[in-house]
Amino acid sequence: MTTWRAPGRLNLIGEHTDYNDGFVLPFALPYGTTATVGPRTDGALVLRSAQRGDSDPVPVAGLEPGSVEGWAAYAAGVVWALREAGHDVGGGFDVTVDGDVPEGAGLSSSAALECSVVSALDDLLGLGLAARDRALLAQRAENDFVGMPSGVMDQMASVLCTPAHALFLDCRSLEAEQVPLDLAAAGLAIVLVDSRAPHQLTDGAYAERRRACEDAARTLGVAALRDATDADLDRLDATPLRRARHVVTENARVLETVAALRDGRTAEVGPLLSASHASMRDDFEITVPRVDLIAATAEEAGALGARMTGGGFGGCVLALVRAGTEDAVRAAVEEAYDKNGFGRPGFYDAIPSAGAHRIG
Ligand code: GLA
Repeated sequence: MTTWRAPGRLNLIGEHTDYNDGFVLPFALPYGTTATVGPRTDGALVLRSAQRGDSDPVPVAGLEPGSVEGWAAYAAGVVWALREAGHDVGGGFDVTVDGDVPEGAGLSSSAALECSVVSALDDLLGLGLAARDRALLAQRAENDFVGMPSGVMDQMASVLCTPAHALFLDCRSLEAEQVPLDLAAAGLAIVLVDSRAPHQLTDGAYAERRRACEDAARTLGVAALRDATDADLDRLDATPLRRARHVVTENARVLETVAALRDGRTAEVGPLLSASHASMRDDFEITVPRVDLIAATAEEAGALGARMTGGGFGGCVLALVRAGTEDAVRAAVEEAYDKNGFGRPGFYDAIPSAGAHRIG
């Protein structure tokens, strides 16, 4: 038996850029999923969740996309992806998971689940997979077994992140760099607010945005929007222009953010976060009134910048604030929520933490 923990992630900047071969800058959260796996000999996959209860045992040999539903599909999908990659998983497994990543908040609870399971199985079977390959197997599970056409950011973040750093990832080459993110040393902090707006990535809107980006790249004759320039944008109009402009400008903002962090100009990241939010709101059109209100309120209360994070249509907002002003920003957001009849937002810790690791 072996036990691994893999975290959810907070994407500092670089939204909807990963599947456009672009740049992202996530860090691991202090919330994660713990997976304990043990071998079986009867060919069955037995999945248990401390939060969701037990799922019906399924034969490993019978795993096919669509054969497992709900939370169990993310774990079963990993076993399927290992089988498809030619690894011997035929004996079956007991898999028990326990997680504390908020769900539906844009913090990658699904990647935490997949990456904890793939890491634990890699260890149990002695496969010796590189971290990057574990992330790619987890992404395969999500894309081809669960059926969510996500990019590679969440799984790469969950396996590769290190404490006190953000992960600068080139989603084309998969080259990764650990960028120091010591907010306390810079006299700063991140306030992470859950809009608690309903957010459903599988509802088709994510896939629609991805298709729109691929169509725009085709129109421009480039392999991916990563290759489009400001000048190329003049050749698009209306919705394709706005979608592509978000991706082109967002990639530039990631590079500017990385440069600012490398130079210790951490406060300068604030306006880049706000510009990212405006781009997601006006060009990519993936924000909703609750997250717009949180971002605007945080800025009015003194935040240096704020943006929605994650796939969109709800989820969380991160605000970069001066250390010592966290409570004032949180109180302002609570008050604005109350005034607008939006109920109560949630608040989480946003401390750059460790990627997947063995804990037992
Ligand atoms: C979701 C996906 C990621 C990424 C983000 C948007 O989290 O899983 O691959 O595309 O949305 O940046």
